[in-house]
Amino acid sequence: MPVAVRVPAKVNLHLAVGPRREDGYHELETVFCAVSLYDEVTVAPAQRSSLEVVGPPDLVRQVPSGEDNLAFRAARLVAAQTETEAGVRITLHKSIPVAGGMGGGSADAAATLVACARLWGVPVDLPALAAQLGSDVPFLLDGRAALAHGRGERLTPVLVRGAFHLVLAFAHGGLATPDVYRTFDALRPAPVGPPDAVLAALAAGDPAALGASLANDLQPAALALRPALRATLAAGEELGALGGIVCGSGPTVAFLVRDSDSAVRFAAALAGAGVAQSVRAAHGPVPGARG
Ligand code: C5P
Repeated sequence: MPVAVRVPAKVNLHLAVGPRREDGYHELETVFCAVSLYDEVTVAPAQRSSLEVVGPPDLVRQVPSGEDNLAFRAARLVAAQTETEAGVRITLHKSIPVAGGMGGGSADAAATLVACARLWGVPVDLPALAAQLGSDVPFLLDGRAALAHGRGERLTPVLVRGAFHLVLAFAHGGLATPDVYRTFDALRPAPVGPPDAVLAALAAGDPAALGASLANDLQPAALALRPALRATLAAGEELGALGGIVCGSGPTVAFLVRDSDSAVRFAAALAGAGVAQSVRAAHGPVPGARG
């Protein structure tokens, strides 16, 4: 029987980037929030392993195929724990943008780990395997909201009162995360500091305070690489968003709004402003990879 697992995208409500480490990664302090934009991963037993991607053509076109895909590597890590040379057919149903700063590739990898462990009935240390695959993969196993340190793999759950509503502005084409970090190293922007205000706003369930405290050290780098995002952020501010921020390494932009009604109205107005490839309302926090 095939196994299907649904997995959310993430936004970084706060992202403080430290200096580049010896291993090439940057020490992070970030507040992750999983949001209601989902990919679904299906795995089924097969003689030969394969990967199929299903979804809007502009997304499918951008997904790395075969061995380069993180989902493929995730399946291989779980297969290594089985007694047999198990093959698997992986199908990715994509909605999360590719190279959009929302952890789409990491989400697919997290879902594939969960799905393959269930398919083959092997006990695996999911967080340990996730950390081998990428910085955002461990968070997307559990989802919800978490404070992360290290590369993003050391996680502490964060208390959140109620739900927060967002509008996501998707861009034309992605940004390569290593390019954004390289630009960050060159620009060395003034650091955003600790995440206290974001954590307090989440605990209080206060969208206005959260909107005012969103912060991302990678935003100046993303804006340098994709100047058109300035117009996206400005349009959102003009339309009355409580706050706007580039998601992770970009180029997706997230706007915080007061409630679900405001999200529907704001999304329509933002789409009309013509500053994004497409626009969609979402809420968070939501749970991580689930069957
Ligand atoms: O861990 P992941 O493969 O998602 O990271 C992609 C790239 O982003 C890394 O190769 C590195 O260039 C950059 N990165 C970083 N510091 C982090 C996370 C990612 O420099 N903490």
